[in-house]
Amino acid sequence: MSGAAITPWVVGNWKMNPLRADAKQLVEELKQLLQNQNIEESKCHIGVAPIALALQSVQAQFSDSSRNICVVAQDLSRIAGTGAYTGEISAELLKDSEIDYVLIGHSERREVLGDSPAVINEKVKHALSAGLTVIYCVGESLEQREKGLAEQTVLQQICDIAAVVKAEQWRQIVIAYEPIWAIGTGKTASPEDAQAMHAKLREGLSQITPAGRSMAILYGGSVKPENAVELAACPDINGALVGGASLNAESFYQIAQAFANTK
Ligand code: PGA
Repeated sequence: MSGAAITPWVVGNWKMNPLRADAKQLVEELKQLLQNQNIEESKCHIGVAPIALALQSVQAQFSDSSRNICVVAQDLSRIAGTGAYTGEISAELLKDSEIDYVLIGHSERREVLGDSPAVINEKVKHALSAGLTVIYCVGESLEQREKGLAEQTVLQQICDIAAVVKAEQWRQIVIAYEPIWAIGTGKTASPEDAQAMHAKLREGLSQITPAGRSMAILYGGSVKPENAVELAACPDINGALVGGASLNAESFYQIAQAFANTK
């Protein structure tokens, strides 16, 4: 089953980077590249995920851009609404600030920052009911891959959220498959391995929801201009979640261009 007709997404995950002046320059450079040679919106959705503090300033800076850029929150609270929850930002508060997209389930949050499947489910549930689009990340560790548990792990991560996603809400979800061993390591899954996992994910999603056939499934883990064309050529890879290479405007632009040209 192929997802070839799906508009790809290329999203830059800036993580806990960069300093304010560098973020400003990065946005300016990206705007300039897009102004010189635009990438049609119908060919590729482009997004960036800055730190929470910078969401609104980055959104404002892109407001006169030659095309729409989705500004994506890197996380949200597991608690909904407003109230006495020091340090938290809820789905409703993101939406109120016109931030319409959020990353949930990134392996750094799962592994380093203690987001359990139960916490992730709370976050997914609140994000969807507030009307956000969720970029839901799944991926196996090296140990799980070596034990032959890669497929089972990522399919389980999909099944986990199925408990809280209502039938009509699957359209608000984009999946990002990010093998943990490929994140920030310079090691990318081979296009064959990545395609095989994406095809499994599409099959699994299609068993859960009819929307599974048209859901974008992004690949993440050391995506760079040098491997983007090959990854983009895989029928079930519908874009990329880019960490390190998204901090360089030219590299990020080239990755977006690879997906826009290939799909
Ligand atoms: P990377 O990060 O591109 O630096 O490997 C990807 C991610 O964590 O989203």
